[in-house]
Amino acid sequence: MRIIETADYDSMSQVVASLIAAEAARKPDCVLGLATGSTAIGAYGVLSQWYRSGAISFAQVRTVNLDEYVGLAPEHSHSYRYFMNEKFFNRVDIKIENTFIPNGIADDVEEECRRYDRLLKSLGGADIQLLGIGHNCHIAFNEPGPDFPLYTHKVALAQSTITANSRLFASQDEVPRYAITMGIGGIMSARRIVLAVSGKSKAPAIKRAFSGPVSPDAPASILRLHPDVVLVGDKAALSELPRGVWQW
Ligand code: GLP
Repeated sequence: MRIIETADYDSMSQVVASLIAAEAARKPDCVLGLATGSTAIGAYGVLSQWYRSGAISFAQVRTVNLDEYVGLAPEHSHSYRYFMNEKFFNRVDIKIENTFIPNGIADDVEEECRRYDRLLKSLGGADIQLLGIGHNCHIAFNEPGPDFPLYTHKVALAQSTITANSRLFASQDEVPRYAITMGIGGIMSARRIVLAVSGKSKAPAIKRAFSGPVSPDAPASILRLHPDVVLVGDKAALSELPRGVWQW
């Protein structure tokens, strides 16, 4: 694992954007695995700016997103499809038909999960997968549980996730209780994983994931078994990482 510590959120966003831009430059038709959440917004802003200045193109890029709320249509302003269109896709030259996100309003959610895994396989997995982390160490919407779910699946959101994400909704009651999420197998199949993290509130999750045991009660801990992980965090988020971890 490589750890890149930055001074603050903005410099973390610059580093994350550089890693993604480097992949798109190296392989113009690369598959980018993308994430939603406040942590990623800055990096999408930087990438959009670099596109506008002519430094980078996404014309041939394909994207696969990690997750979507069950019950929210793509046009819903709190859906992850809406988020991605607003924060990134509509701001660059990517072809919208090359962007993939689970369908939160599929009639048959089980079949939608299978379809998403087939799609991921047909794309050959992500070349680079961007991740954030939840306060409870979830990645995508893989919540702490008895095992590491391998495949795309429907998940009941943990109460702490509902509470954390309610800041974006009018009230906690409006937060969907279920989501479709890529499984741990799909995430781990990416050639490189970039975990972005910012702020003091995430420091305990980072400490748990990278210095406690690898176990499904902290889903992000599985990342330690991946051969190419880059943890990009600001000082505050990395402040509780024990010394030994820095020497990996
Ligand atoms: C959400 C998403 C995750 C994201 C995480 C952190 O629930 N499903 O993919 O990484 O929570 O979000 P934020 O960056 O807003 O803290």
